[in-house]
Amino acid sequence: MAQRIPEQVINEIRDSLDIVDVVSDYVSLKKQGKHYSGLCPFHNEKTPSFTVSSDKQLYHCFGCGAGGNAITFVMEKDNLPFVEAVEKLAGKANIALPEQSGTAYQKEEDASPLWEAHELAARYYHHLLMNTEQGKEAYDYLLNRGVTVEQMETFRLGYAPNQPRMLKELLEKREFDIEEMVDGGLLFRRESSWDIYDRFRHRIMFPIHNAKGKVKAFGGRSLGEQEPKYLNSPETSIFLKHESLYGIHLARGPIRKKNQAVLFEGYADVIAASGAGVTNGIAALGTALSERQVQWIRRNTDQVLLCYDGDEAGQKAAWKAGALFEKEKVNVQVALLPDKVDPDDYIRKHGSEKFKKDILNSSVSITSFKMKYLRKNKNLNNEGDKLAYVETVIKEIVKLPGAVEQDIYLRQLAEEFFYHLMHLTKRKND
Ligand code: GTP
Ligand code: MN
Repeated sequence: MAQRIPEQVINEIRDSLDIVDVVSDYVSLKKQGKHYSGLCPFHNEKTPSFTVSSDKQLYHCFGCGAGGNAITFVMEKDNLPFVEAVEKLAGKANIALPEQSGTAYQKEEDASPLWEAHELAARYYHHLLMNTEQGKEAYDYLLNRGVTVEQMETFRLGYAPNQPRMLKELLEKREFDIEEMVDGGLLFRRESSWDIYDRFRHRIMFPIHNAKGKVKAFGGRSLGEQEPKYLNSPETSIFLKHESLYGIHLARGPIRKKNQAVLFEGYADVIAASGAGVTNGIAALGTALSERQVQWIRRNTDQVLLCYDGDEAGQKAAWKAGALFEKEKVNVQVALLPDKVDPDDYIRKHGSEKFKKDILNSSVSITSFKMKYLRKNKNLNNEGDKLAYVETVIKEIVKLPGAVEQDIYLRQLAEEFFYHLMHLTKRKND
């Protein structure tokens, strides 16, 4: 069942968006006097008869008669029902919509006091990091790692103090049900003593938001050698890892605008990249990418740039993620990092510009990536290895959807192995 969106919210979205920006995502517009004009996206034409008025916030085509406002434009252009068009525009305007209330489960989730508790905890941790002596070690650590104050604000980073029950006491004072907070992952019960403690202690806190910008969980990075390095909230009624992505509330607008998502492995990578102007970056939560995550991305864009760590584990993960995206017909590019370097390290060492130029903008197609990857661990002077390599690559090439693409890579492979293939054919024919 479609949800009703309050009129007030719709007005807020209309007020904060300019139809010129909305249409410009689809049509290249030129200013002509009071209006903008361009080629109509609703019929085929060679001379522009499509006009957009910023004053009236309306569009009209003199050729085919199409016309309306920003919402009807998105409905028509993306073939979306009203509510989804409004959702899309809300994303663009960075306005949080009331949660969907399609199912009973959803209603229950919406009403959960865990939302408020997480918001409270996020604010509390953030305050400790930014303003207190207790948070100074964490603050200095972040500055030392190249995280700016602005990034700490944008990502609402925090510090969980090195004390057993600070958050618990705060939650009690605000009359939250403590058992519920244990189930919700903010607190935890030590089985041996039945005592209840704060789950996160002496950690840098990374709030994990839903797409609408509400905090639903945390990742906490240990400050010292304390294990595990990252402690995440457990799954709760409002937090399922396989359908969450770090940074989506900030990246959703940019992903749609740029029609590309950049996928990283770590929270630190997303933050460092955003400092480099890469605002369409997101990350899974330390687990392998899931189908649900891929589907969320697919609903927002059909192009993904994988920017995983340059080690064997990272490349393996990129391979797997690539396969999931290909299944959903998402175009995949892969950025290649030097071994043992993650995007955050790279940016710190070489700077934003070099990162964008030599890493992101030098990305390769998923097929080229696969060829490189397969070649890496093979000794191609060895006949058996060489044969296995060629066979595996051919299997990958055959899977490609377009004949042109297949041709390109087959040629590449043939050039690489011209003599070898000649030799093989000869042997078969003998
Ligand atoms: P830094 O060491 O702070 O630079 O972090 P990183 O982002 O380089 O971490 P790494 O590449 O080791 O891990 C990538 C992601 O995996 C992190 O952002 C976490 O989400 C997750 N992760 C890493 N270590 C752990 C761990 O010990 N436990 C859990 N649950 N997740 C982890
Ligand atoms: Mn790192």
